[in-house]
Amino acid sequence: MKEEFKLVQYKRNHRHNGDLSLFSLERAKKVLAFHSSFPTYSETPLVSLKNTAKELGLGSVYIKDESHRFGLNAFKVLGGSFAIGSYLAQKLGRSIENFTYSDFISDRTRQDLGEVTFVTATDGNHGRGVAWTAKTLQQKSVVYMPKGSAMERLENILAEGAKASITEMNYDDAVRFAHEQAEEKGWIMVQDTAWEGYADIPLWIMQGYGTMAYEAYTQLPERPTHIFLQAGVGSLAGAVTAFFAALYKEECPIITIVEPNKADCLFQTAQAKDGKLHYVTGDMDTIMAGLACGEPCSIGWEILKEYGDNFISCPDYVAAQGMRILGNPIKGDASIISGESGAATFGCVAEIMRNPALAQWREKLKLNEDSRVLCFSTEGDTDREGYRSIVWDGTFPRT
Ligand SMILES: Cc1ncc(COP(=O)(O)O)c(C=O)c1O
Repeated sequence: MKEEFKLVQYKRNHRHNGDLSLFSLERAKKVLAFHSSFPTYSETPLVSLKNTAKELGLGSVYIKDESHRFGLNAFKVLGGSFAIGSYLAQKLGRSIENFTYSDFISDRTRQDLGEVTFVTATDGNHGRGVAWTAKTLQQKSVVYMPKGSAMERLENILAEGAKASITEMNYDDAVRFAHEQAEEKGWIMVQDTAWEGYADIPLWIMQGYGTMAYEAYTQLPERPTHIFLQAGVGSLAGAVTAFFAALYKEECPIITIVEPNKADCLFQTAQAKDGKLHYVTGDMDTIMAGLACGEPCSIGWEILKEYGDNFISCPDYVAAQGMRILGNPIKGDASIISGESGAATFGCVAEIMRNPALAQWREKLKLNEDSRVLCFSTEGDTDREGYRSIVWDGTFPRT
C-alpha cells in the first residue's frame, strides 16, 4: 500500500448537536479529584515550544507531555483507573465522587468488594494502566495483546502483576477474545472502546481522560486556535474534543484528528459520510502501535462527527519525524521524549508546515503565524528499542 496524506474536512457544526454534559468542566474537576487522591499523582507538564513554533511559521505550539503520567510513560492510565474506580464504587452502591484512593484500599472496602478480576485487550499502554490500577487497588488483572506487540510493553504489564500474553490476533480480534473470556469467567471487561451493549465502562474511560484535558486547560496561557488529536478507536479524541467543545462553545478551536494510513477507520468513516462506522481489517502494521485500531469507538464517533473539523490519514514517517523533532527542538525549547503514537500529531503539524506539497493544506486548516496549536504527546518511549531505532538510527525516513 502506497503511504500518502489524505484529508477530509467537515463543515463546522455551529448548532452543537451533541450532548456534552458528561464531559463538562465540572465533570472533569471531579475526575481530577479522583486521580489526585492517588499518592503518586502529579500534573504532567505543558511545554511551550516557542522557537520551534516560529521556525514552523506558527504563533505558538504547546505540547502536553504525558510521558510523566503516574510513572507509566503514557496518558492511558487515566481512563482505566477512573473506570475501575467507578465500577468498584458502583458495586459498593457508592458514588465515585466521594470515594477516593484511601477509601478503596481500606480493609472495610476490600472485605465488601471481595476479589475482582479485570480483563482487557491492549497494544500496551491501556493494559499497563489497567494492570497498575488493579494492583494499586489490590485487585487482579488479565491482559491480552495483539500479535507483534513489543516485548518491553508486555514486560511492563507483567511487572504490574497482571497475567499478560501476546496473542496471534490483531487488536480488534483480541478485544473480542477478551470479551468472551470475561463472559465465561465472570471477569470485568475494561475496554477503551464502546460498542452496542457495552458503553458504561468506555464512557468512564473517556471521562477519565478529562483529567488530561482539564490540566491542559488550566496550564495554557492562551486559548488555542487548533487542537490536533491522534486516534486509535477515537475514545481519547472524542473525550478531549467534547471537553473543549463544552468549554469554548462557538469559540471551540479547530479540531483535527490524525490517524495512520494503515488504521484510518475514523478517516474512512468521516469520508464515507453515510452514517455508518467503517472498519479497517488485517494486520495494520503501523509503527503507531497505539493507533493500530480498525473499529471506531461508537461514543467517540458520535462526538467527533459533530465537533471534528478535519480528519487526516498520514504515513508512518510523519510520526517518526515528530519523534525526532520533539526530541531535538530548536535551541532554547525543551526536549520531549515522545513515542510513535505520542508524536503523530505534532509530526503531522510539522509536515504540513514544512512540506511544499502540502502548502494548500495550511490554508485549508487555517494554519499560519497567528495559530496557537495544542498537541498531546500521549506517550513517551514506551518501546525503547523502537524509539532508538527510529530516532538514533533513522529508520522510517521521509519518503
Ligand atoms: C499512546 C497512545 N496515544 C493515543 C491512543 C489513541 O487512543 P484511542 O484508542 O482512544 O483513540 C492510544 C491508544 O491506545 C495510545 O496508546
